[in-house]
Amino acid sequence: MSKKRVLLTGAGGGIGRATAKTLAEAGHQIYLVARQQSQFLEDLRLYLIGRNCYLGTRYIDFLDADWSQCVFTDAELDELRFDSLVNNAGLADRVAYSQITEDRWDRVFDINLKAAMFLSQNLIPSFIKHGGGSIVNVASVSGIKGGVFQVHYACAKAALICLSKSLSKIYIGQNVRVNAIAPGLVDTNMIDEEIALSAELGASLLDSLPMKRMATPSEIGHVIEFLISDKSSYISGQVIEVSGGQQ
Ligand SMILES: NC(=O)c1ccc[n+]([C@@H]2O[C@H](COP(=O)([O-])OP(=O)(O)OC[C@H]3O[C@@H](n4cnc5c(N)ncnc54)[C@H](OP(=O)(O)O)[C@@H]3O)[C@@H](O)[C@H]2O)c1
Repeated sequence: MSKKRVLLTGAGGGIGRATAKTLAEAGHQIYLVARQQSQFLEDLRLYLIGRNCYLGTRYIDFLDADWSQCVFTDAELDELRFDSLVNNAGLADRVAYSQITEDRWDRVFDINLKAAMFLSQNLIPSFIKHGGGSIVNVASVSGIKGGVFQVHYACAKAALICLSKSLSKIYIGQNVRVNAIAPGLVDTNMIDEEIALSAELGASLLDSLPMKRMATPSEIGHVIEFLISDKSSYISGQVIEVSGGQQ
């Protein structure tokens, strides 16, 4: 199994940190993309350096109007030689359908969809130049089943799944695999913020889950590692639900 050189967005978040550690445990090397510096990110950076798995860090705010103009240059990509991309950055926004403004819609689409679209466009030519690659897009079960309180988020994740399938069709002949994963509820800050809105909501969310618990971030990270690695070499254009038996 070859070791991969992975660019990971949302690296300072719950799933991002767990994924980076899982990738490192499997011997892959990781380049971190984060919105901003944080203690979580610094701890992760030191962890990766300690395992000799650290490739670098870049700060990108996907809400900055011109971020897509300043991603990686050809010279940087030749040096970094990425062969994998995990589009994990995301923003949830629990709000009733009637309260979704154009601004909220745009923010959610910019972070959950546009970031993956233009980072993929930036990196894929370099994957092809160096023999191929793999992309994993972190979507959500709400992108498959719809969502009552986050219609814009569900739509963005559905589009992210469609982006994954479309890029797979375009690039599979050039040895670039593209897949999506669709987690259910995962125990991260994103869910803590939702549960903080109401204790009643938190209890009913947990009770609605078949396993009566959320996924741990590592349970998501392991599936991402599988899809990045050569263990999944014949899998592309798929969406894997990691949702503890939700139907
Ligand atoms: N937790 C769940 O139940 C769940 C379920 C299904 C899918 N997901 C998806 O899983 C992915 C990771 O989420 P998580 O649960 O780990 O939540 P999280 O801890 O809130 O992580 C989200 C990450 O996205 C980054 N991000 C947010 N806005 C950004 C921006 N403007 N520019 C660049 N990066 C930005 C955050 O950076 P900062 O830390 O700097 O804000 C953070 O690292 C997301 O795509 C999410 O939609 C999560």
